[in-house]
Amino acid sequence: MGHTYVSHPVDDKGYVQWTSTEDETWRTLVTRQRKIVEGVACDEFLEGLDYLAFDEAIPQLPELNAKLEACNGWGVEPVPAIIQPKEFFTLLSRKRFPAATFIRLPEHMDYLQEPDIFHELYGHTPLLTNKPYCDFMQKFGELALKAEPKDRRRLFRLFWFTIEFGLIKTDKGLKAYGGGILSSPGETEYCLTDKSEKTSFDALTALRTPYRIDIMQPMYFVLDSFDDLFEILNQDVFALVEKAKELGDFEPKFPPKDVKKSDQAGSGDDESEEEGAMRC
Ligand SMILES: [Fe+2]
Repeated sequence: MGHTYVSHPVDDKGYVQWTSTEDETWRTLVTRQRKIVEGVACDEFLEGLDYLAFDEAIPQLPELNAKLEACNGWGVEPVPAIIQPKEFFTLLSRKRFPAATFIRLPEHMDYLQEPDIFHELYGHTPLLTNKPYCDFMQKFGELALKAEPKDRRRLFRLFWFTIEFGLIKTDKGLKAYGGGILSSPGETEYCLTDKSEKTSFDALTALRTPYRIDIMQPMYFVLDSFDDLFEILNQDVFALVEKAKELGDFEPKFPPKDVKKSDQAGSGDDESEEEGAMRC
């Protein structure tokens, strides 16, 4: 990509000076994505999107937070482009959702591996209006802080296959709720087609399933309901992690990649604490 993204400074009132080009990028992305998520996103996501009423300009966090806090007490915390896992999990445990204050360049409009403010706000905040989603986030942060650092990457698969790339059964059929899907035009259009496998969510299976961050997902896990989302963490997750380690990973359903190991976020046995690759 050849460009290093850096977060904008935030003033003492929590405001960012976005440029007109950056606001235009936001406007383009929001306008385009609103049409694409219709029919793919679950109702809870679409209702959250309507409630937040994203418009012309990148939302200023104090204003967005007033709306979010009124729902479930959550808020978005501005952070640098890369933060350490411990900080990420600490924020979640305190009902603060981290968002880096940068947005993609126009030439990266369709795809950016780094999670920018469009991904974070558009992909995740609509469901911060949903209690089980919020409760999952908070509990996940607490559990990850208690986990051995070497187990965090494996544990993170529970987050990846739900919060980022989850599908859910609804009375209108299969829908998406994952923010990695719903902030990506390509993946939104792809996720419900028969080009990918779908399987009922099972925590042990998810903990044994490697993933790649840089391709369309070959497989999605499907929840029966949002109540089941929180229930995932209402079991002995650490015992499941141990069991997953004992049983080992499933064969990847994606081709091997040819880039450096530190990019392999799905490599659950990688003990590295250098987890910039734990992108979310
Ligand atoms: Fe994310």
